[in-house]
This record gives sequence, structure tokens and C-alpha cells, in this order.
Amino acid sequence: MEATQRNRCIGVFDSGLGGLTVVRRLMEQMPGEDIVYLGDSARVPYGTKSAETVRRFALQDAAFLMRFDPKLVVVACNTASASALEHLQGRLEVPVIGMIRPGAAAAAAQAPSGPFGVIATEGTIASGAYQRELAALAPGCEVLTGSCPLLVPIVEEGRGNDDPIVLHVLGDYLRLLQRKRPPVLVLGCTHYPLLTRAIAKLMGPDVALIDSGQAAALAVKRHLLDNDLAAPACRTGTLRCYSTDNPDRFAAVAGRFLGRAVSGVHWVGTDELNL
Ligand code: DGL
Repeated sequence: MEATQRNRCIGVFDSGLGGLTVVRRLMEQMPGEDIVYLGDSARVPYGTKSAETVRRFALQDAAFLMRFDPKLVVVACNTASASALEHLQGRLEVPVIGMIRPGAAAAAAQAPSGPFGVIATEGTIASGAYQRELAALAPGCEVLTGSCPLLVPIVEEGRGNDDPIVLHVLGDYLRLLQRKRPPVLVLGCTHYPLLTRAIAKLMGPDVALIDSGQAAALAVKRHLLDNDLAAPACRTGTLRCYSTDNPDRFAAVAGRFLGRAVSGVHWVGTDELNL
């Protein structure tokens, strides 16, 4: 493979800031890669919107990223992966990797016949995407699901693992899962890894938590290595961020998701994505 192919960027999009938890894992696994990130903060959340709307937004987000000539696109949003992955794979001329299949595969590797727990947005749970992937990997398995709509705004507000409101809301959402204690629980939303400690505390030490973003980052790495598309390890990768809403607010909050400061965020209007 020519060096120019390997040096092309990875395009990553999400409904807003949450996908930066996935970028964090991508950067840990592949520090030499250039990443262009689009956060559709003007239209977040996707998790409560219809599958048709999410599909339309996802196509626009991916089309924007294609302007940067990426070698691969990552749908760093579980909701968009659940509703739009196949549409994107059918329309883009580069490989597209989402969150659901890698997350489900990591869960099945941990507990081959389940039962599995999955927490995610309303849209992701309603799509049945995790349920289908897990059933394909472990036929007849039980999948216990819970949608947790309040967690996205709570995390975006900066509330963390020790916050009594977080523990109260999680306690309510996790009640059924606490009773059933599946051996593995998939964190099927970009925001939930920021609450790993609180979720682990409530579920107990026997329940393994799967970060779908980490699983997706490993899937991306495998794909790039298998196809001789990985950037040389001696390179230092770059991160360029675009937001469809206030870039200053995006930059101010992004550090919590990425684990390091983000500067120089660019604005792109949703009108431009609509073209
Ligand atoms: N990024 C979304 C996900 O992983 C959560 C935020 C939203 O609802 O848009 O499902």
C-alpha cells in the first residue's frame, strides 16, 4: 500500500461530544493516525429521535467527513450505528465501522452464552440492533435491556461518578439488571464510560462492563492492520474537530470526554451539511 493511502485520515462522527470517548480509545490504540471529528452538537441528542431522522443526519455527517478523503469512517455513536450503519456502508466508498457489532462481540467473548445486559439510548434499544447482534453470536441468549435517557444530559452537565443525582438515577435505571446480574453489561452509549465507576459500584464485581468505544477502536485497528492501511507508528497523529454548534462550548466541555484539552474547534453549520 502506498504511504499516501496509509497517511489518509480517519473520519469520525457523533451526535455531539460523546464520540470523543471513542476518539480517546482510537488515539490510545493508534497514536499515529490523523483524525477528523464531527460532533453534530446542534442536533444532539440522536437517542430520542426517530430512526429516519437519525439516518438522514448520519448520512449528512458522513458526507461532510468524506470531504477530507478519509481511509475509513467511524460512526462513534451507538444510536447512529444502530439506525444508519448499513445505509452508510451501502453509500460510502470507504469502509464504515460502527459501535454495535464490536460491542456485542466483546460481550460474547466475555460470556459466550450470555445472558447479556445492554444499557443505551431509547433509539438504540428500540432498534433491536444489540439484541440482533448478540442473538447472532449466542443463539437463544437472553438480552436484558435498559434505556437510560437522563444519563446523556447528566454527563454533559459535568456530573460524575460520586454525584448523588447520578447514583440515584442509575439506581433507578439499573434496578432490573441489579436483580438479574448478567455476567456482562454493555455500555452501549458514548457517554456511559464516564460513569463506569458508578455503574460498577451498583452492579458489583461479578458483572464485567464492556465499553463499546474501546471494542470499536480495536476493530478499527484490526481493520487498518489487516488491510495495510495503518499510519506508520513513528508518526504523531493529529485531531481536528468540527462542531455544528458553538465551537467554544464544544472545546470547553470536550476535555472531559477526550481526557485531554481540545483547542481550535471549527464550526460547520447544519445548512452546509444539508447540501
Ligand atoms: N452518542 C449517542 C449514543 O452513543 C448518545 C447521545 C445522543 O443521544 O445523541 O447513542
